Amino acid sequence: MTRCLVCAAPTRPFLSFGPMPLANGFLREDEFAAEEFHPLEAALCASCAMPQLVHPVPRERMFNERYPFFTASSSAMAAHFARFAADVRRRWLSAADPLVVEIGSNDGTLLRHFAVSGTRHVGVEPSANVAAVALAAGVRCTQRFFDEDTASDIAAAHGRADAILAANCFCHVADLNALARSLDILLARDGVVVFEDPYAGDILARCAYDQIYDEHVYYFSATAVARWLAPHGFELIDVARQEVHGGSMRYALARTGAHPVGDSVAALLAEERSRGLDGIAPFLDLARAVSRSREALVALLREAKSGGKRVAGYGATSKSTTLLNYCGITPELVEFISDTTPLKQGKFSPGMHIPVRPHGDFAARPPDYALLFAWNHAAEILAKERAFREAGGRWIVYVPEVKVLD
Ligand code: TYD
Ligand code: ZN
Repeated sequence: MTRCLVCAAPTRPFLSFGPMPLANGFLREDEFAAEEFHPLEAALCASCAMPQLVHPVPRERMFNERYPFFTASSSAMAAHFARFAADVRRRWLSAADPLVVEIGSNDGTLLRHFAVSGTRHVGVEPSANVAAVALAAGVRCTQRFFDEDTASDIAAAHGRADAILAANCFCHVADLNALARSLDILLARDGVVVFEDPYAGDILARCAYDQIYDEHVYYFSATAVARWLAPHGFELIDVARQEVHGGSMRYALARTGAHPVGDSVAALLAEERSRGLDGIAPFLDLARAVSRSREALVALLREAKSGGKRVAGYGATSKSTTLLNYCGITPELVEFISDTTPLKQGKFSPGMHIPVRPHGDFAARPPDYALLFAWNHAAEILAKERAFREAGGRWIVYVPEVKVLD
């Protein structure tokens, strides 16, 4: 029996994908032989209802000087973070000369909005290559993991934070209790922590099982977040749905009693109760839907292949690593993956070793079908690729269901 990483109660596994390569482990041909694999299995805690991985991968294996994910690679995400910054400033930054800290500040896309207006800020980012981009853009950041020592050092150097922000970061942190203690060290008495991550409710509703991969240790719901935080003296004070990353939730939390609790919190907790998100049933439904989704996608790709059609992937996402390896999709079925990230180009996808090529290759010789791995950026990409569609190219999507778009 495995125990909950948060509260140590027994967990119930609901999905097992078997051994998986690192989701962001794009690699060269001479690295194939040494490629590492880790078991990927998801479970639900019977007590705190936190959906989680059973075998978290050591953080240094994933977040290092080769981390190939840059927030700014999507213009829609850059616009989203401009709105995030404005929202924080309007709702949560009433202090005079406030300090804003971002955990997992990546290339500085969010903090830039505070840097330009002269707001005191510090980013914390362990991956050296992305942190270097933030520094070059004039964002103050420290290259290390966020833990109790980091929190103490920042508090000693700059004082306590009025707002601590994180996007697509807290779900990466295996030790959530240490994270809560670090927040406690760094947060001002009336400070607010605002973080957003992919939302369990959307993963279930959309059968977005490719959100399950090594970097995502947790699949948060408001129920699970509230139960994680309560013993640490924090409570949720606001929640807001976000469409980014295929369906996310933004949570605001504060020291218990320090701020009024918005109506949105009780409403979401009630909705989650009615959907049964604190029990295993919807997760077992997901597991069944996942295996049907695999059959449908593989059948569609085989049919394209036997009809002599070319299929290319669009967006070498971390999500696609789960999908490709679970479905066993090799370069036989998907010829290459188009991606705009220079660090991924010329490399091969983890596990299945599909070549990743620059977008120019896609544009120069468009495939018959483009399999949309970056489905979370569908609106941005479909608008940009109108010419592909007009020339007869078709999109294959698999979230919420496998289909060829009209
Ligand atoms: P992202 O969807 O953020 O996902 P994940 O968290 O699963 O890695 O990554 C998007 C990837 O798609 C990234 O490698 C950049 C690439 N991309 C393109 O190639 N073209 C585009 O137009 C967009 C928006 C993204
Ligand atoms: Zn638990």
